[in-house]
Amino acid sequence: MAIDGPSGTGKSSVSRQVAHRIGAGYLDTGAMYRVATLRVLRGAVDITDPVAVADSVRGLPVSVGSDALVEEILLSGEDVSAEIRGDAVTAAVSAVSAVPDVRSALVEVQRALGTARERMVVEGRDIGSVVLPDADVKVFLTATAEARAHRRNRQNIAAAGGADDYAAVLESVRRRDHLDSTRAVSPLRPADDARVVDTSDMGFDDVVQLLTELARENMGAAL
Ligand code: DC
Repeated sequence: MAIDGPSGTGKSSVSRQVAHRIGAGYLDTGAMYRVATLRVLRGAVDITDPVAVADSVRGLPVSVGSDALVEEILLSGEDVSAEIRGDAVTAAVSAVSAVPDVRSALVEVQRALGTARERMVVEGRDIGSVVLPDADVKVFLTATAEARAHRRNRQNIAAAGGADDYAAVLESVRRRDHLDSTRAVSPLRPADDARVVDTSDMGFDDVVQLLTELARENMGAAL
């Protein structure tokens, strides 16, 4: 099952919960681009130099767990699950994930991991269109920029010492949307055969329920 869409749609929490409910493995491909970005930043590589970025990411020693309820993300055996969500990585990840050689290297790994178990929920931006075009179910989760910024801002406020700055969050959501949807390789857009689900006015449980039903209808009666 491929679940794509921009950030702030609740995609990760929904994907994990759906995977758990249907007894599938889970793969967060965004985390892999984040690990690549961390490696680039730690190597003090110029992120505007695609050749240097691709060199830095070659043979990336990344390991991501497939358990929907346990986040395990390792770089050379080190747990980097918190660091990859930090501001430095978030600010640089669009540039790194736009480098074609970075994408082709990671897509290859994602295809292998995404088909390693009989049932997988694979989450990202280009899963239904590029990584796993033969997926049984393809969902593109979306929401208005405003709805996504409100969600992200609420998460920030809830985080320890987090700031309440809706305008800045909205600006950042729009900036990332623009970068992700205009890049030359695998721009963010739904696969032709994806079911587009707008979550702006849907609660978490409703989205999980809808996707679980889609999985049950399309991934075999045994679910
Ligand atoms: O889902 P996320 O916010 O963790 O993704 C981080 C970045 O990686 C985001 O800028 C888009 C990019 N990405 C991508 O280009 N392709 C994917 N399959 C997953 C994420």
